[in-house]
Amino acid sequence: MDKLTLDFGKRSYDIVFSDSFADLSGELINACGKSKILVVTDSNVDKLYSGQILALLSGAGFTARKFVFDAGEQSKNIDVLQQIYTACLTHSLDRGSVIAALGGGVAGDMAGFAAATFMRGIRFVQIPTTLLAQTDSSVGGKVGIDYGGVKNIVGAFKQPSLVHINASTLGTLPYREFAAGLAEVIKYGIIYDKVFFEYLEGHICKVKALDTNIMHHILRRCCKIKADVVMQDETEQGLRAILNFGHTIGHGIESAMDFKLLHGECVAIGMVGACKIAAGRGYLSEPDLDRILSIIKAFDLPVKANGINKADILHYMHSDKKKGSDGLKFILPKAIGTVEPFTDLTEQEINTGIDFILNG
Ligand SMILES: NC(=O)c1ccc[n+]([C@@H]2O[C@H](COP(=O)([O-])OP(=O)(O)OC[C@H]3O[C@@H](n4cnc5c(N)ncnc54)[C@H](O)[C@@H]3O)[C@@H](O)[C@H]2O)c1
Repeated sequence: MDKLTLDFGKRSYDIVFSDSFADLSGELINACGKSKILVVTDSNVDKLYSGQILALLSGAGFTARKFVFDAGEQSKNIDVLQQIYTACLTHSLDRGSVIAALGGGVAGDMAGFAAATFMRGIRFVQIPTTLLAQTDSSVGGKVGIDYGGVKNIVGAFKQPSLVHINASTLGTLPYREFAAGLAEVIKYGIIYDKVFFEYLEGHICKVKALDTNIMHHILRRCCKIKADVVMQDETEQGLRAILNFGHTIGHGIESAMDFKLLHGECVAIGMVGACKIAAGRGYLSEPDLDRILSIIKAFDLPVKANGINKADILHYMHSDKKKGSDGLKFILPKAIGTVEPFTDLTEQEINTGIDFILNG
């Protein structure tokens, strides 16, 4: 077991890296005391892990209950949120109680928003079980739901009291979901850490085989990078935007494909488009562009979007909520390991990036 502490003053918290749930109760007692706890999870994760977790928590003296929703993004909505509030009332949660998210980013975002708003905010714990949630969504405090057809449009910043990562849960994750999480892992290397990018290049087979030591290093490094960024810019006034590398075109593809591709798959394609633009500006060398394409392909992620056209991608890129008042913001690599935000891209440059991921 290993820990990383995020320094948010009085709201500081630990990320615990473990290979089982055996230490969860002890960590929860350290973080929150022996409180009433509502575990919010989805229908897939419920079958795999909630029995074990509720038994462990009850055995340790917690009053633990669960709320289960149908797995998938379509549940991250206001109706299911209301059902969580109802469960909070049914189980008489009070100001000292805890909501715990057990599952992927959908459980984390929605349970976190419930915790941010129920009784004007109660404590919140993340128990992430997808690679995306263990390396990205459980760290940083962005929580929310989809509304009116717009992703994550209603939300809050709510730091958890504890993030408990049991890496062994990745063993039951479908490979396509695992690979989608790897897109965000690759992203961290490109935006922040060339050495980490090279580490990934050197351990492709072991990553795919879920080698314990390699995965431990990856989870820790990704959480540390995200924590470094978020601790400097919690509410995305500047630096935090670098985490959106690949997301400008990626979100456009996600919507244009009507969410048939996973978020991470769209980010992978979006990173390729952004890198092509960066190469056109002479920021990224052609060999480095090839290295990025190679690692994305090596992890079985798509580098092209099929069955959609440029006009649709552009339409959704321009309606994305992350678009600032000064137009589309692109995060472009200046080299592997360093990125910068740009709002001065010409139409021709954007077209070149999109053409590359459609045909190139
Ligand atoms: N808050 C943030 O900073 C942030 C960052 C990135 C993404 N997100 C959000 O995260 C969500 C996507 O998260 P996700 O990719 O984890 O999706 P998800 O929560 O839907 O999980 C993906 C699938 O994996 C299943 N699953 C989860 N853990 C499993 C396990 N260990 N074994 C077997 N199956 C398992 C789930 O039931 C689901 O079917 C999106 O809603 C996105 O907006 C939030």
